[in-house]
Amino acid sequence: MEILKKFLNHGYLVSPELDLNKIEDVDAFLQFVRSNYRKGYVINNQVLEAFLLSTRKVSHGLKILFNFEEKYKKVGVNDFVSLYNDRYHKLKEVICRRSEARGTISISKALKSSSNEVFLVGMIKELRRGKGWVRAILEDPTGSVPVMIRASEKTEELVEDEVIGVYCIKRNGAFFSEAPVFPDIPEREMKKLDEDLFLCFIADIHYGSKMFLREEFEEFINFLKGKSKEEKHREIAEKIKYIFILGDIVDGIGVYPEQERELEIPDIYSQYAGVSEYLKQIPEEKQIIIIPGNHDVVRMAEPQPPLYRDVAKPLHELKNVILLSNPAMVNVEAKEGFDGFNILLYHGYSLDYLISNVNRLKKYGYEKPELAMELLLRKRHLAPTHGSTLIAPLNQDHLTITTIPDIFATAHIHKAAVGTYKGVLNICCSCWQARTLFQEKVGHIPEPGRVFLVNLKNMGIRILKFV
Ligand SMILES: [Fe+2]
Repeated sequence: MEILKKFLNHGYLVSPELDLNKIEDVDAFLQFVRSNYRKGYVINNQVLEAFLLSTRKVSHGLKILFNFEEKYKKVGVNDFVSLYNDRYHKLKEVICRRSEARGTISISKALKSSSNEVFLVGMIKELRRGKGWVRAILEDPTGSVPVMIRASEKTEELVEDEVIGVYCIKRNGAFFSEAPVFPDIPEREMKKLDEDLFLCFIADIHYGSKMFLREEFEEFINFLKGKSKEEKHREIAEKIKYIFILGDIVDGIGVYPEQERELEIPDIYSQYAGVSEYLKQIPEEKQIIIIPGNHDVVRMAEPQPPLYRDVAKPLHELKNVILLSNPAMVNVEAKEGFDGFNILLYHGYSLDYLISNVNRLKKYGYEKPELAMELLLRKRHLAPTHGSTLIAPLNQDHLTITTIPDIFATAHIHKAAVGTYKGVLNICCSCWQARTLFQEKVGHIPEPGRVFLVNLKNMGIRILKFV
């Protein structure tokens, strides 16, 4: 009766056939239901089976550090206010750990202070670029102040809504600073494992599109099955333990105007069923972690919840598939005396905005996405500017990078790239879709069919080309 009451209190009905004896952890089951089913749903044995399957899926080597679970509630403007306050406080804390930020004072105090030197932390409300200077209006919960920052390479990457620190000299009531201080990450050594173990990164399958590279994808699946012609590849395939798929699993429906003309499979259920047929062939001992992208059938606003069960049912039913949110963070291979590897997964919708709007990145276009990834790590945020992606009005900012990853993986722009930044391995995944009309129009040349393999033994990267 206790269980029935709990579910009723949260707006769910319980089928009289539900096998209550199988439920060991009622709260975990309720949490699962709340994340996957709308209120009013009748909780039956099928739902229970799905829950039990999800608890069996996570192997000993993998821990989920962040997975956004949707809770249905009314949202409003105040949630956005809370979200931006949350971002400010989290990033202020990061900046204030630095020695130069000791003695940080609030903006309202700085305005009244008689001292000529102050260190401020603020969110950029407005940016204006002049000759030799950038005028940034900084805001914190106590007020706002214009700061003149000397133009440099660092100011070339400033964007609105990011949180920065500034050491200021006050002259005649005006604030001047030589350079912004980014939250950034500390320099660290790359971790290493004592055995050969590979991670595999792919994304943007776009199954259902006429441009889906079917033969090449089949060849990739055969590689995972250990059926490559080359012996070396067969050896590697055997050592792949985790496969990360970073969104846009299918091409979706109605994602852009007249998309139907470019669709081979114009039905979303058939798209997910079709791609599942391929993933089903991957040996079961390999764990597959999937996050959604902007073409998938979940809401666009980030964080995007894991792919919905009712649409992507065939994927949910695969025993070795774990569906997580976008972004998500997992840890693999932690053991006694070893922290394991933190892997940050983000589809990468904000990359488009950054590449075309940030002065420092504009000159490279889509050629160097790894630089955009470095910038996100410096700003400790996956989509610093409001409008660089759609942000869900939640009372917390889940796009702030609070835990430093060992590997940061992203995708979306169909360009394969790799780089390292202060000991973090950055991977921008390739795709399985040939050049689209839209890409032709904007002059973007994609790089499909590349697969990134990371050997945790030495953090070495191998890129296999299937195109
Ligand atoms: Fe995408």
